[in-house]
This record gives sequence, structure tokens and C-alpha cells, in this order.
Amino acid sequence: MHRAHWDRRNFLAAAASGAAVAALPRTAMAADPVKVGLIVPKTGPFASTGRQVEAACRLYMQTNGDSAGGRKIELVVRDDTGTAPELTKRLAQELVVRDHVSVLAGFGLTPLAFAAAPVATETKVPMIVMAAATSVIPQRSPFIVRSGFTVPQITAPMGEWASKNGVRKVVTLVSDYAPGIDSEKAFVKRFTETGGTIVESVRAPLANPDFAPYVQRAKDAKADALFVFVPSGVGSAVMKQYAERGLNTAGMKLICTGDVTDDEQLNSMGDGALGVVSSHHYSAAHPSAANKKFVQAFEKANKGLRPNFMAVGGYDGMRVIYEALRKTQGKGGGDALLAAMKGQIFESPRGPVYIDAQTRDIVQNVYLRKVERKDGELYNVEFAVINDVKDPGKEKK
Ligand code: PHB
Repeated sequence: MHRAHWDRRNFLAAAASGAAVAALPRTAMAADPVKVGLIVPKTGPFASTGRQVEAACRLYMQTNGDSAGGRKIELVVRDDTGTAPELTKRLAQELVVRDHVSVLAGFGLTPLAFAAAPVATETKVPMIVMAAATSVIPQRSPFIVRSGFTVPQITAPMGEWASKNGVRKVVTLVSDYAPGIDSEKAFVKRFTETGGTIVESVRAPLANPDFAPYVQRAKDAKADALFVFVPSGVGSAVMKQYAERGLNTAGMKLICTGDVTDDEQLNSMGDGALGVVSSHHYSAAHPSAANKKFVQAFEKANKGLRPNFMAVGGYDGMRVIYEALRKTQGKGGGDALLAAMKGQIFESPRGPVYIDAQTRDIVQNVYLRKVERKDGELYNVEFAVINDVKDPGKEKK
């Protein structure tokens, strides 16, 4: 009897406080954690991207504490499986409506970022694109901010470097989807403007590509160099075909984006990768104190896994979120957070970066690098830098 009475009193008290909480506007609940909904491929062909981005977000939180602007920060991670835009859209909706996330983040591939963009616009929730790299992405929603990179930002400088360094004729080989087409266009434009000639442009499918016939076609077209872009995780398959079909011995150099000589896969590519020149915004061998600290901490927290450029997009994306919470004193609200994200300027492990307030895109240095063996391991060693590169994809054509 006594016990039943006690239980009921407690139940009534709990119910009453529950009702009171529900009646408060969400922004008034400052004690609530701020949730960041991270949507990345944790399974499927692009699982390495999800692994890198998530590990880097967690490392940022571990290094910088799990609160900012007086609010605790909680990461809510969802697997988009890498290739399903409809699933990404549903996950984004659920994260906003059911989990009440204040920020959406991640987005491993362009079609998935495109799919989530309308959710960010409709719900006014900032969306940090940490990985996907097609030029137009931030134009798909005024709530998108990019912390990774854009492919034209990388391939235009490569076009110019190639034509100025003795490469006259090039065959291009890219994955046949938005970032591949973007990378091809920007490379071809800058390379031909600076005197180069394109012999042939080959595009391989994104899904389950067998690169053998595409690499063979490139070889048959005969050129000084083969230019390649494929998304992170796919580089070793192309590199294998390049070596097996003897393009190197036929006098066709490989030039590419750093997505191909991806730091996570590079060591397993072997000596065939030695001497390959790529352009990119991040190398694990970038010689700065901030990067050495980042690489060491990342490897320590992840059983020796080397961070790649996807990790840096995730790490810096968390930085942008933390700083926005600090600036808004933890009050949140999509518009205020977004405003506090624009114009941020900071030193990333990749070098100095800023978020362009007009385009919401990242401006950063682009490096030319050559694969070399250092202390027994393969690295992309930087040998030239172009400072503060904006996305040339947004230039008026
Ligand atoms: C993209 O889909 O936008 C994408 C994915 C992986 C990369 C680059 C671009 O390495």
C-alpha cells in the first residue's frame, strides 16, 4: 500500500515536469546538448570516407572538450551506405525532426549532398559539407557551408602546372559523375589556356568500375601524361591498372588529384606510385607543427590509421561548428549559427583557410606534391604551393 502510494507520487511528479519541459520552446533549454547529425558512408564502397570523417570529428571533440559556448556537444552518427540519395534525404529529415539536431554534417559524395540540401533549406539547419567536392554544392542551399574542398580548386592549378612543366599532350580519365566532370572541365580549361592539348577525355562509371578498358583506351590515345580524378577509396584500383598496362614504360606519366594518391591507401600502392605528381589541399606529410600534432593524435586514436583529406574536412568542420557555438554563446538557432560560420579564418592541419562569407565555400592553399618514400613509408611530399585558391568553378564562364 505504502509502496504503491510512493510510486504514484513519483509518476505524477515526473509527468508534471515532463509536461513543463515539453511546453518550453526548444531554444530556451540551454542545458540540452547541441546535437550534430553526422551522415557519412560507414558501409559500402566509400566506407573509408565515413571512417576518416567520423574519427576526425571525434578527435576534434576529444582534443577540444565536448562543449562550446556553454553547451555540451553530441555527435549523432548515421550510415548513408554511400550510394543512396533517398536514404540520405530521409536520414537528414529524421535527424532534424526526431533528433532535433542543430547542425547536419558529413556528406561523403556529391549526389548525397544534393539530396540533403533541400532539408537544410526547409528547416533552416546549417549543413556542413565535409567531403563532397562538386563546385555547385553550396549553391544548392543557403544553409550549406563547406569545410572540405572543391575539385576545380584542385584541378585548375594542376592544369597550369602540367603545361608549364613540359607536359604537351594529355588524356583525361575521370569518374562519370558531377565531381569527375567538374575536375575534367577545370583541368582542361586551364591546361589548354596555358598551351596544352587534350588528346582524349575518357569517363568511367562510378559504380563498380573495372578500369582496365578505360586505362587501355587512354594508353592507345598516346600522350605525355594521363590525368586522373576518382573519388577517395578508388585510387588504388586505377593505379593498379596504370602499372599493369605499362603506361609508365610507354612514356605516359600519371598526374592526378590527391584523391587518387589518397593518404589512407598510398602505402598499399607500392613502388608503382613513386614519382606520381598530384595537386591537393592536404597531405599527411604537410610540414607544419599543427599537422604533425594532428597526424600523431589521429594515428594514436585510430590504431595507426593515417588521416587523409577526408579526415581534415571533418576535423575543420567541427572547428567551424564549435566556433559558431562560441560566438553565439550557445544560443543556437540556424540563422545565427550560419552567420557565425561565415568568414571564419583559422589554421587547419592543411595550412591557412577561411570560409568565404559570400560563397560559404572554403578558400585554401593548393599544393603540388610528389610521391616519395620517407622513413620506409610512401608520402605525398609537397614541393610547390598556390596560396588562397578560391573555387574557380564559380567564376563567370
Ligand atoms: C564527391 O562525390 O563529391 C567526391 C567524393 C570523393 C572525393 C571527391 C569528391 O574524393
